[in-house]
Amino acid sequence: MEIIVANESHFKYAQIISDTITDSAKVRGTGIARRTPEYIIKRLENGNAVIALEGDKFAGFCYIEVWGNKGFVANSGLIVHPDFRNQGLAKKIKKRIFELSREKFPKAKIFGITTGLPVMKMNYELGYKPVTFSELTDDPEFWKGCQTCKNFDILTRTERNMCLCTGMLYDPSTKIKEKEKLNSKAFQRLKSIKESLFLKKKTK
Ligand SMILES: CC(C)(COP(=O)(O)OP(=O)(O)OC[C@H]1O[C@@H](n2cnc3c(N)ncnc32)[C@H](O)[C@@H]1OP(=O)(O)O)[C@@H](O)C(=O)NCCC(=O)NCCS
Repeated sequence: MEIIVANESHFKYAQIISDTITDSAKVRGTGIARRTPEYIIKRLENGNAVIALEGDKFAGFCYIEVWGNKGFVANSGLIVHPDFRNQGLAKKIKKRIFELSREKFPKAKIFGITTGLPVMKMNYELGYKPVTFSELTDDPEFWKGCQTCKNFDILTRTERNMCLCTGMLYDPSTKIKEKEKLNSKAFQRLKSIKESLFLKKKTK
């Protein structure tokens, strides 16, 4: 398995990356923003994405986006193809994109928003901390990316203060004391509290 910084030679994978993101959102039934092949191509061409390939088979992807005048970068769109899940690949991709973010934007705060426990765990181990949305970028373009998520109405209702996603932030100016593990139970509990607060019951 190769995990490499993507370039123009990987444009041919844009469709499968986009389809895998869409299919996973359907299966999970929860919020994942949609990404068109055109959108993916832009991320592949600017040296801000990593792709995992086994031979020429697509295995995984993640990209960096720069927000708010380079003060913030996000590691977004993490996807592992179902054929390659549960083998530690997402963890390797996350680590590589994190290192690339640190190399290219050493002063930027790195952030992400997610509903996924695996992603929270991985971020936490890289040194991210959970924060309120007010600590994240206020760049409206970033929040526009949530429009294709099925929970967007919640974000609008709360005036962008909260949603089902948890915000996580790595601040390069904060020293990490030691490697910590996420308290998964606390996060699962927080997630179910948010779901019962924000999601209307389908059946009465
Ligand atoms: C989430 C996803 C990227 C994980 O990919 P993966 O390669 O299977 O993950 P890894 O094998 O590297 O596992 C990383 C950690 O997450 C945990 N994990 C993986 N899938 C999990 C799941 N469904 N539920 C809970 N934990 C899970 C693993 O146990 C591991 O934790 P550990 O280090 O404590 O053992 C993959 O399932 C995926 O692409 N899902 C759809 C898209 C998605 O949800 N993206 C995130 C959007 S925010």
